[in-house]
Amino acid sequence: MKICIILGTRPEIIKMSPIIRECEQRNLDYFVLHTGQHYSYNMDRVFFEQLELPDAKYNLDIGSGSHAEQTGKMLIGIEKILLKEEPDVVLVEGDTNTVVAGALAAVKLHIKVGHVEAGLRSYYREMPEEINRIVADHCADYLFAPTEKAKEILLGEGIEEEKIFVTGNTIVDAVYQNLEIAQKKANILAELGLEKQNYFLVTAHRQENVDNKQRFDGILKGLQLINKEYDMPVIYPIHPRARKRMKEFGLNADGIELIEPLDYLSFLQLEANAKLVLTDSGGVQEETCILKVPCVTLRDNTERPETLEVGSNMLAGTQPEKILNMVEKMINKKKDWENPFGDGKAGKRIIKILMKLEDKNA
Ligand code: UD1
Ligand code: UDP
Repeated sequence: MKICIILGTRPEIIKMSPIIRECEQRNLDYFVLHTGQHYSYNMDRVFFEQLELPDAKYNLDIGSGSHAEQTGKMLIGIEKILLKEEPDVVLVEGDTNTVVAGALAAVKLHIKVGHVEAGLRSYYREMPEEINRIVADHCADYLFAPTEKAKEILLGEGIEEEKIFVTGNTIVDAVYQNLEIAQKKANILAELGLEKQNYFLVTAHRQENVDNKQRFDGILKGLQLINKEYDMPVIYPIHPRARKRMKEFGLNADGIELIEPLDYLSFLQLEANAKLVLTDSGGVQEETCILKVPCVTLRDNTERPETLEVGSNMLAGTQPEKILNMVEKMINKKKDWENPFGDGKAGKRIIKILMKLEDKNA
């Protein structure tokens, strides 16, 4: 069985890392195809170095662009490589443009598609990721759902049960594999002069938030309110999309400490020791749940409803007073919730399932 792992952005590198490690350990015939959707050192290369991942065999260097431009270029580039390499299975992870391009290119060539993190839905179609998830799930032959809830969603869309496997989310594997190293090796608390449990950590980068002046401004005003109310630093490692928009819109970020995007170990250390995290990131909603850190999500919906159900997360949207109000509700929350995302063995499970299925097909 020859496996092609397609990835292109920061969260895909992190969430595919347990699967890549498993392929390495088992000495499988596999290769990594990087679309180059993310390319800045601190959004891309740093994760390969820190997680000690082998270099991608191919990098398409697609870079940034409009949705159609970026996805179209990826489709053309991915197809060429799939025709040359003839893998038996293509694996994609998550909901980015890289994922939709990888799944679509492969299924049209009758190559089996495995979608890792299948069955997530926000039911908000203006979010580009929602369209990518739906298309990828419906192209896939193997759907690796992180939770039973995700499986139910897929069944509800008419996907055959034989194709769906509940494996847990590989983010749990990534956190378990790296947290201890992060707590020992990373030095970011000292570098930023922070005390454990005495700062807020923020990430916000979603197109529907930061490309909308009013919503982005609402988030920043909300952060300023909590900074005043609690007199604690607010640390915001800012994604390049958000940095660009903040400048273009001329938004005021006084009282918020903007820093460059962080490497994974530093980010994990900051996340694990924060009083509370505010985010619009998918991966960060999951990680805070796993790390037992209260989270307030700067969105009106989430495709991670498990976090709301177990009580690790609340939705605040982007109105400043609502953000403050949700922080008040979450800040002293008892951290006794269960982690609904699995046992940290999702990567191993996915590869085992694939090997069994492919043996049967051979
Ligand atoms: C993408 C994903 C999003 C995911 C996020 C993870 C889609 C539609 N969106 O959003 O689901 O949550 O990645 O971080 O696939 N830029 C750089 N350097 C980089 C990458 C981007 O400067 O390495 C800047 C460019 O100005 C670019 C902008 O960020 O135009 C947006 O990048 P893009 O990859 O299109 O989308 P993300 O917002 O990163
Ligand atoms: N992350 C990181 N450095 C940062 C911010 C986030 O390493 O400065 C990690 C974070 O731990 C999580 C992943 O990036 O695993 C989330 O990626 P992102 O928020 O870009 O994308 P999303 O999950 O929303 O698709």
